[in-house]
Amino acid sequence: MERGVYLLPEKRRRRPCVLFSVTALLLVFVIVGVALGVTLRHENDTFQETFISRCEKFKGSDCQKIWRAFEQAYVGRDPCNVPMEEYNPLVAAAPPQPACNRIMLWSKTKDVVHDFTEKRDCFGTLEDTLLGSVLDDLTWCGKEGSSETFTTGCPGWTDCEKNPVRSFWYRASAAFADAACGDVTAMLNGSISTPFYPTSIFGSIEVKRLNSTRVKSLNVVLVTEQNEVANCTNASLKDLQKELDKGIKYNCKEVEKSQIEECASDPQKPCGACW
Ligand SMILES: *[C@@H]1O[C@H](CO)[C@@H](O)[C@H](O)[C@H]1NC(C)=O
Ligand SMILES: *[C@@H]1O[C@H](CO)[C@@H](O)[C@H](O)[C@H]1NC(C)=O
Ligand SMILES: *[C@@H]1O[C@H](CO)[C@@H](O)[C@H](O)[C@H]1NC(C)=O
Ligand SMILES: *[C@@H]1O[C@H](CO)[C@@H](O)[C@H](O)[C@H]1NC(C)=O
Ligand SMILES: *[C@@H]1O[C@H](CO)[C@@H](O)[C@H](O)[C@H]1NC(C)=O
Repeated sequence: MERGVYLLPEKRRRRPCVLFSVTALLLVFVIVGVALGVTLRHENDTFQETFISRCEKFKGSDCQKIWRAFEQAYVGRDPCNVPMEEYNPLVAAAPPQPACNRIMLWSKTKDVVHDFTEKRDCFGTLEDTLLGSVLDDLTWCGKEGSSETFTTGCPGWTDCEKNPVRSFWYRASAAFADAACGDVTAMLNGSISTPFYPTSIFGSIEVKRLNSTRVKSLNVVLVTEQNEVANCTNASLKDLQKELDKGIKYNCKEVEKSQIEECASDPQKPCGACW
């Protein structure tokens, strides 16, 4: 009896507390939800917004015009039938700037090469040019009878040859290699058995388009780690030399990954001394 009397007021006291908690919780959900919605909307929620906002980091570019040149390549088309030539107007609207002695090509070394070029202003990769940086890591395609850009349900890199993403990278890489001049550097991966892959973009497009009328040399930096697999004597690198336009000098140097990382973080060190 005494216990019951004692319990009742406690229950009463607890009820407003529970009500308050539930209300507070709901309020928190609403606030978080709204904030999240605003943040997501504020960030690029459409493909076009991502494209434009990345493009606008390149001051003085007509990003609306570049977007239209991009879109016409694949919108309304079968996503397995977009040949690389469809991107000619895009490349014309945003050509890569020729950068003598600064061009950095790469194959299977994406992370280490971009870590380096981000921190040191002496080399530039395709992903540092306007088109490369705008479309890096994005997926897109069109659909017959539609004027939209899709980012899901698109063919993957190897699903069909002439897909919009692959054709873009082929076309942009060709333009990048065409613009190369002077001494060109290429970072290849020494932890895999075939550092030079004839079917990679580097092997099938870039190497073939380096022109001896402008390019003096190709300097391979073969990035090695403790578990070095291939070295500069590897036969695949002999195949690379055969592909080069006659008159382009070839060099290869094995360089520890840790040495490249150290050099990236040391702004005092001249880039030429990194390897
Ligand atoms: C949103 O835009 C920024 C550039 O302002 C870009 O760096 C970022 O990757 C974009 N977000 C997504 C999810 O693509
Ligand atoms: C080389 O390739 C291996 C295997 O794909 C990868 O784990 C490693 O990170 C690559 N090395 C560099 C320097 O990118
Ligand atoms: C190099 O350029 C010249 C003239 O611009 C051209 O005739 C030649 O075919 C080019 N070579 C290669 C390998 O692209
Ligand atoms: C390069 O690798 C081969 C095996 O792939 C090995 O026989 C040779 O000794 C290596 N050369 C050097 C300089 O490490
Ligand atoms: C070197 O190149 C050849 C032919 O391109 C390849 O088959 C071989 O496995 C490569 N790697 C090593 C470590 O010898």
